[in-house]
Amino acid sequence: MNSYDWLETERAAIEQAGLRRHLRTVMNAPTGTINLDGRDVVLLGSNNYLGLSTHPQVIAAAVEATQTFGTGASGSRLISGNSELYTTLETNLAKTKGTEAALVFSSGYAANTSIIPMLAGEGDLILSDALNHASIIDGCRLSRATKKVYRHCDVEHLKTLLSESTTFRRRVIVTDGVFSMDGDIVPLPDIYDIAAQYDAMILVDDAHGFGVLGKGGSGTVSHFGLEAKEIIQMGTLSKAVGALGGYIAGSRALIELLINRARGFIFTTGLPPATLAAANTALDVMRSSPELRQCLLSHAKRLKTGLIDLGYTLLPTKTQILPVVLGSPQRATGVAEALLTEGVFAPAIRPPAVPTGTSRLRVTVMATHTEAEIQQAITGFDTVKNM
Ligand SMILES: Cc1ncc(COP(=O)(O)O)c(C=O)c1O
Repeated sequence: MNSYDWLETERAAIEQAGLRRHLRTVMNAPTGTINLDGRDVVLLGSNNYLGLSTHPQVIAAAVEATQTFGTGASGSRLISGNSELYTTLETNLAKTKGTEAALVFSSGYAANTSIIPMLAGEGDLILSDALNHASIIDGCRLSRATKKVYRHCDVEHLKTLLSESTTFRRRVIVTDGVFSMDGDIVPLPDIYDIAAQYDAMILVDDAHGFGVLGKGGSGTVSHFGLEAKEIIQMGTLSKAVGALGGYIAGSRALIELLINRARGFIFTTGLPPATLAAANTALDVMRSSPELRQCLLSHAKRLKTGLIDLGYTLLPTKTQILPVVLGSPQRATGVAEALLTEGVFAPAIRPPAVPTGTSRLRVTVMATHTEAEIQQAITGFDTVKNM
């Protein structure tokens, strides 16, 4: 046995458990229908919710920025990688979010794994929702703080944990705004009240609420009218905004501290100019296009009703994320494969991304889907429903 044999043993075990993942190849932009591994399929697995990654104005901004600034930042932001495009984008983000300031990271993953260890360390407590995104979980691990997980959206459980935890230096409640695999919305006003009672900070990861909920698409905090409150907002430019990058929006003091302490900000190269310019223009389009949000949510409603009428079990979602729960990983991948042959791509999501026994298809719609594509999706689900 050589010292590398365990790689094949572990790979085979993953396959055996029905949990093997493999890469598919997409041949065009994330529009309503894509060419996937050579086959045209209706795309129900993209986070390009508003279709902004293919918006003509957004593309034009990216092209112009490349011509002016080149293809790469070629330095970390604290050295030479901080072009004026960053200033423009961060000012625009703070305006969109209604906060004093904002800071852009190279991804949402980097934003979470940077801010959480900055907010909490040894002697502090993080309270984390059981269904929080993996980047939050990893941020908690990096922080060396004590972590307590409260039951999903269970504010009474959160309250109990806080009441038992008065000796910590700082307390931070961390939650998704819109849960990435379930599509439900955090009960933020209740959490806000509890946080105020126990002197805790709140960090909301709004990766899937940004662009979709609230005034001008500004997100979950705005959806609940809590803009004026002290809530730290994290989000990403990679989903509804159609570009790449994560951000933190909050007070100037918070942003200053991140610039000085956040390792995932300091020790990495800045984003490409095209990405920054695309995100900036996408924010303008997002704020001024309520019809995109209306269209997105009306497609979601139509598809959700269609799937429920066919007898599928969906988790109670109110957003563009429609979780079709199928149980075992094998069943989820089996139905996903059958749907592909019907010309519909709805990705199977299995543990550890979701709890064991709740493998599912994570169906998402986009504002740019046509009525015909939504109907094709329903017809595909109808064909495979007895699998
Ligand atoms: C809730 C949530 N947070 C954070 C991230 C990470 O964002 P990014 O893809 O920009 O790294 C994601 C995306 O997968 C997400 O769904």
